[in-house]
Amino acid sequence: MNRRFLDALNCQNKEGPPPVWLMRQAGRYMPEYRAIRKKHSFLSMCHEPELIAEVTELPIRAFDMDAAILFSDILVIPEAFDVGLRFDDGIGPIIERPVRSKEEIPKCINITEKLSYVKEGIELLKPRLSVPLIGFAGAPFTVASYMIEGKTSKSLSLTKEWMFKDPAGFHALLNTITEATISYLQMQEKAGVDAIQIFDSWANALAPKQFEEYSLFYMNKIKESLSLPTILFCRGSSLTAGKIAALKPAGISIDWNGSISDIRREIGPSIALQGNLDPDVLMAPPDILKEEIRSLLDSMKGDPGYIFNLGHGILPHTNPDAVKVLVETIRERLPCKSHVLSL
Ligand code: CP3
Repeated sequence: MNRRFLDALNCQNKEGPPPVWLMRQAGRYMPEYRAIRKKHSFLSMCHEPELIAEVTELPIRAFDMDAAILFSDILVIPEAFDVGLRFDDGIGPIIERPVRSKEEIPKCINITEKLSYVKEGIELLKPRLSVPLIGFAGAPFTVASYMIEGKTSKSLSLTKEWMFKDPAGFHALLNTITEATISYLQMQEKAGVDAIQIFDSWANALAPKQFEEYSLFYMNKIKESLSLPTILFCRGSSLTAGKIAALKPAGISIDWNGSISDIRREIGPSIALQGNLDPDVLMAPPDILKEEIRSLLDSMKGDPGYIFNLGHGILPHTNPDAVKVLVETIRERLPCKSHVLSL
């Protein structure tokens, strides 16, 4: 198995280029994904173990990524809570029965039974992969925000209103989601994933005090219940990396609003750092794209705990050729390796 990703996550990637994978690497920007998606709805793809395996492998085959991330979605947990999840084309996720009060919090359910299709997908995938497999879940705050708002919301006003009006009820919802997430991720660990990433995509909506109370506290609970190395992704991490580092996760994923090398100096050498490239850079002409990548690589040169990634998910209108250029540029200083793609 290619161990570069796991070595870097352990801050031990002492030779060669940093490992690379991209958040949302199996998605609509890939023609191979769109061809499969033509025949199936997004949720039915998430439910079918053979398709989970097939789609997870697409970016490994096309771009020779150093890690695979399970093809699924953070919203399969609310779906298991039976809140009526659907995905509408051009709109995104819709939750038909949003949760807006303590009385509406769903009862604990047998999550591992409901999400056993994910376990089956992982079991199919593992023997086929020659790179590590990253399992994942959403952080309770982000998952709660979808359950409350009922759709993607930029302001999170209903979520924050509940949080400020009824902190005890809001904590009860976060606790219910946390318990389900722990069982779900422990199931992924048993099924064979090699590392875990937790996505708190809306953590940047919180002021520092509420970030600690409603985001970090629950991410820590989850991290502490797992045995595999865990990467924490929070939007806003350029500002909050110091606080995230205090939880001592294996890795922290960094958005593109700050300098990752400054963050390295701030947090010290013992936690892996991932990310930092602005996803829109992939729209630039190849020479500018290469310049941006090289400047990020130079700023993290020789860092044994750096994992190359974007600051957030790859955008659907990205040209796959730009992803090829990205991977080649990262590996260009080691031209003798057989996995270097030709230009
Ligand atoms: O990284 C990967 O390639 C693994 C798969 C993955 C998906 N979603 C597939 C997906 C992962 C890790 C996610 C996480 C996810 N899902 C997050 C957290 C990360 C982030 O981007 O902030 C969130 C907030 C969601 C919820 C979600 N799923 C939204 C808001 C949407 C609609 C908007 C969009 O980008 O389309 C999705 C749909 C989704 N999840 C798609 C994919 C491939 C597109 C579905 C389609 O084919 O129409």
